[in-house]
Amino acid sequence: MQRVALLTSGGDAPGMNACIRAVVRKAVYHGLEVIGIKRGFNGFIEADMEPMNLSSVADIVQRGGTILRTARSDQFLTPEGRAKAYENTKRFGIQGLIVIGGDGSFRGARSFYLEHNLPVVGVPATIDNDIPGTNQTIGFDTAVNTAIEAINKIRDTATSHERAFIIEVMGRHSGFIALAAGLAGGAESILIPERPFSYDEICEKLLRGFRRGKLHSIIVVAEGASGGLEVGRKIKESTGIDTKVTILGHLQRGGSPSAADRILASRLGARAVELLMNGATKMMVGVSKGEIAAVNLDDALTQAKTIDVEMYHLANILSL
Ligand code: F6P
Repeated sequence: MQRVALLTSGGDAPGMNACIRAVVRKAVYHGLEVIGIKRGFNGFIEADMEPMNLSSVADIVQRGGTILRTARSDQFLTPEGRAKAYENTKRFGIQGLIVIGGDGSFRGARSFYLEHNLPVVGVPATIDNDIPGTNQTIGFDTAVNTAIEAINKIRDTATSHERAFIIEVMGRHSGFIALAAGLAGGAESILIPERPFSYDEICEKLLRGFRRGKLHSIIVVAEGASGGLEVGRKIKESTGIDTKVTILGHLQRGGSPSAADRILASRLGARAVELLMNGATKMMVGVSKGEIAAVNLDDALTQAKTIDVEMYHLANILSL
């Protein structure tokens, strides 16, 4: 293998830049040439790409977002779009592709390999942490820390006014961010799509807390479990407590990556290059029990990733 390409795809995640840096520098270290594809799979189809070198990735390890930019490509969902991209691999002499993104991006990469036989390696990067085959995805740690910082601030004003706050966090169909931020942020209730919840129980717990002299209440809601506004309306209706709703939204996607995300991104990016050099065809890199591991993309896309039920119960116990 002489020339590899890389792209970032799907929703951006803090640490993507650290991963780009690791891929480029590790590849250059081994004497490979690197092509950076811009705007995700759209740039792959439209030949929006250029060579990268050591200085292309200088001063980015600490930056949020992605210098390659990103997109959710509808065109790449079609065989015609993928065929156009394949033409560009021939034109640019690309022999392997590294895709930094989430499950939607990996599905596209897998189809691309199956149709055109060009080796692909996925690096899991999404704040949602919803990718099987890895304990943690790039961006999750930073997003959770961002959510906790917001919860801490909201707690101050909630206490002053003796209010209940509903904080809606991202995560698409999963509750990983909500569970981690809820536990670390000391939330009374955590609503996630993976577990059923009852408004009666949530309201009872809330009232119990206020009767006991609590000055505030924090409820963290994963966007996939329910809309924060709806939760706030229902709680206010049945308890009469002054309830406010904060939707954290895209601010969870921005910001300088945490040390943990930079380290994870560097390790995963470097291993992705090694995998391509060693003849991988359709793999994903991940982390399991602290070790960097490789799994087949098929497994990463078909297995389910479950939340830590013990952690969910613990959060409940600690917020009695
Ligand atoms: O997958 C990352 C994510 O931020 C989800 O948590 C969220 O549901 C979605 O992307 C939002 O997507 P967009 O930025 O396209 O609105």
